[in-house]
Amino acid sequence: MICHILKDADAIGKAAASLFVSQTLRKPDSVLGFATGSSPIPTYQGMIDAYKAGIVDFAGVTTFNLDEYCGLAPDHDQGYRYFMMQNLFDHLNVPHDRIHVPNGLAADFDAEGVAYDAAIDAAGGIDLQILGIGHNGHIGFNEPCDVFPQITHKVTLTESTIEANKRFFASADEVPRYAVSMGIGTILKVRSIVLVATGKGKAEAVKKMIKDDPSPFCPASALQFHPDVTVLLDADAASLL
Ligand code: F6R
Repeated sequence: MICHILKDADAIGKAAASLFVSQTLRKPDSVLGFATGSSPIPTYQGMIDAYKAGIVDFAGVTTFNLDEYCGLAPDHDQGYRYFMMQNLFDHLNVPHDRIHVPNGLAADFDAEGVAYDAAIDAAGGIDLQILGIGHNGHIGFNEPCDVFPQITHKVTLTESTIEANKRFFASADEVPRYAVSMGIGTILKVRSIVLVATGKGKAEAVKKMIKDDPSPFCPASALQFHPDVTVLLDADAASLL
């Protein structure tokens, strides 16, 4: 892992956006991997700025998102497809039929997981994936557990994730209890990864990801097995390193 400590979320967003822009300039038919949550928003703004400035064209890319809540329709305003449309895709020229988000309404999540990973493989694999990190060390919605999940699968969200994500809902009771997420194995197959984190609340998880022995109890620590991970932090998130 290569770790950079930058001034603030804005600087991190600009740096991560430049990785997506240069990836797309080098390979216009890149397969790009996206995340939701607060952390990637400055990155998405940087990509939108570059597109609006005419620096980059996203017409050839294919995209895959990490995860989606179970039980929320694609147009639900707390769903992750809706989040991605609002925060990124409505402002770029990615063809909508090449945007992929796991189906939170799948009748059979085992089959959905197999099909999602097969679609990633059929697209040629993900070239560059952005990740955030949960306070409990989750990436995607791979929560701490006793094995690293291999493929896209249904997850039971932990209380700490429900607590962290209730800010996007009217109350904690409305946060779905299940999600469908790329597995750790799916994420480790990505060619290049950029993980972004800011704030003291992420410091413990960042320390476990980078400094501790890899363990599924800190799912992000699996990134120690990946050869091309760039971690972009502010001083608070890096404060326990
Ligand atoms: C969301 C996702 C999650 C978030 C993580 C951090 O698609 O994959 O792993 O990246 O929960 O969320 P924020 O950025 O809101 O702190």
